[in-house]
Amino acid sequence: MTNLLKEIISLCKRRGFVFPSSEIYGGFSSCYDFGPLGVEVKRNIKKNWWKQTVRLHKDVVGLDSGILMSPKIWKASGHLSAGFADELMECKECHKRFRVDKIDSDTCPECGGEFTEPKQFNLMMETYTGPIQNEDSKAYLRPETAQGIYINFKNVMDSRRLKLPFGIAQIGKAFRNEITPKNYIFRTREFEQMEMQWFCDPDDADMYFEYWKKQRLNWYLELGVDKDKLRFNEIEKEERAHYAKKQIDLEYKFPFGWQEIEGIHNRGDWDLSNHSKHSHQDLKYQDKEKDKEYYPYVIETSVGVERSFLAFMVDAYQKVEGGRDEKSKKKQEKVLKLHKKLAPIKVAVFPLIKKEQDLVNKAKEVYEKLKLDFSTEYDEAGSIGRRYRRQDEIGTPFCVTCDFDTLEDKSVTIRDRDTMEQERVKVKNLKEILRKKLRDNHPKYFDVQKNKTK
Ligand code: GAP
Repeated sequence: MTNLLKEIISLCKRRGFVFPSSEIYGGFSSCYDFGPLGVEVKRNIKKNWWKQTVRLHKDVVGLDSGILMSPKIWKASGHLSAGFADELMECKECHKRFRVDKIDSDTCPECGGEFTEPKQFNLMMETYTGPIQNEDSKAYLRPETAQGIYINFKNVMDSRRLKLPFGIAQIGKAFRNEITPKNYIFRTREFEQMEMQWFCDPDDADMYFEYWKKQRLNWYLELGVDKDKLRFNEIEKEERAHYAKKQIDLEYKFPFGWQEIEGIHNRGDWDLSNHSKHSHQDLKYQDKEKDKEYYPYVIETSVGVERSFLAFMVDAYQKVEGGRDEKSKKKQEKVLKLHKKLAPIKVAVFPLIKKEQDLVNKAKEVYEKLKLDFSTEYDEAGSIGRRYRRQDEIGTPFCVTCDFDTLEDKSVTIRDRDTMEQERVKVKNLKEILRKKLRDNHPKYFDVQKNKTK
C-alpha cells in the first residue's frame, strides 16, 4: 500500500470519516463504517449527484426500488450465469483462491503451491426469504441497482406520462461477493451505487452516450477534481460487462494507479428485451411520433458512492511542509481541500479565548444561529492555531472567530481555508455573507434538449 493511501486511511480513522467494520471483534474483511464526518460527505456526494441528475434535468425522474427482488430478474439479466462471474484458481496447498486475471505466476504467491484448474465463481450474494431455506426460497441481494429500474420502466413511464427519451435514476446499496476486495473502500462487498438509465430510440443512442459522457465528466470537474487525474478508457469487447454494447470507464489516478470510478454503458436493448422474454410482458415502446415500435436502448451511468468518496478524498488531501504560515511551528500541516459542496462541516465557530465567558457566550450565540442554515461546529479547545489546523484537516471551508472587538463592534472574523485570508464582517450580515460564499453554482451541462438531433 502506498504511503499516501496509508495517510488518508489514518486521517479517515482519526477524524471520524471511515472506521473498519466490527473493529472490537477484530474486524470484518473489506467492510467499513462511515463515521460522523464520513456520513456527511457521503450525503453531500449523493445530494449533489441527485441535484445534477434528477432535479436539474427535466427528463430524468427518481426511483427507490428494493434490494430484494424476484430471483427471476437475475436469471433474465444474465447475472446468474457466467457473465457475472470471476474465474478462480485454488491453491492445492493453502487452499487460498485467486482471480485468474490477477495472477501472473503458475504457483501460489502465498506458499508456492500448485493451482487447481480455473473455476467460475458467481458474485451474487445469496439469502433466503421466509422460514424455510431451500432452492425455492433462495433470493439474492442486488449486485446493481439498475435492474430495479428496468423492471419498473413501464410503471414509471405510465404513471408519469413520460415519452422517450427520458431517464430514471436511483441511489442504493448493492452487494457483490468480490473475491479480491482491496484498496481500502475502493472495492468492497457492500457498497452504494448512483445509477441513471437513459431510455432512448436506438438510432439516438450514440449521440446520448456522448452527451452523458460529457455530463458525468463535468460533475467531477465542478466538484473540484483535478482534470489531469481524470480520463476516459474505452473497454474492448472481450473485457466489457456482459450487457454492454459499448463501455467507457471514467478513471481516476488513485495512489494505486488509474482505476475506474464510473462506468458509462450503452446496454442496447439487452435488459428490456430479456425482461420481456422472461416475464412475458411487452416492454416495447410505441413511438407514435415516429410511427414505429421498438425496445428502447439504454445509456447507463453508474458510479459507486464510496469509490467516488475515495477519489474526492485523495484529490483534496494536501500536505504543506513547514506549515501554512510564517508563524507556524509545525513541520507539516495537512489540509483537506474538499469542494465546499462536499465538505462535512461548512463553518466552525470559535471564541478567541476559552476562559473569557463573554466571548464563549457570544460564540455560542453565533453558533446557535448559524447551525440553522449550515452544518456548523463549535470548538473552544486548544489554541486558535490548533483549532484552525483541526478544521483544515477535515476540510472546513470557513472558520468564524469571536474576539474582544466582537463585544464592542458586533463584528467577527471569517477565515478562508484555502487562501487563509481573514475578513471582518458584522454579525448581522454573517449568514448572508456565508451563504454567498457557500453558494451552490448550478451545473453547466444539463440541457439535454441541445443534444437532440430532431
Ligand atoms: N449497473 C452497472 C454496473 O454496476 P459496474 O461497472 O459493475 O457497472 C459501476 O459498477 C460502478 O459501481 C463502478 O464504477 C464503481 O464505482 C462501483 N462499484 C462496482 N463494484 C464495486 C465494489 N465491489 N466496491 C465498490 N464500488 C463498486
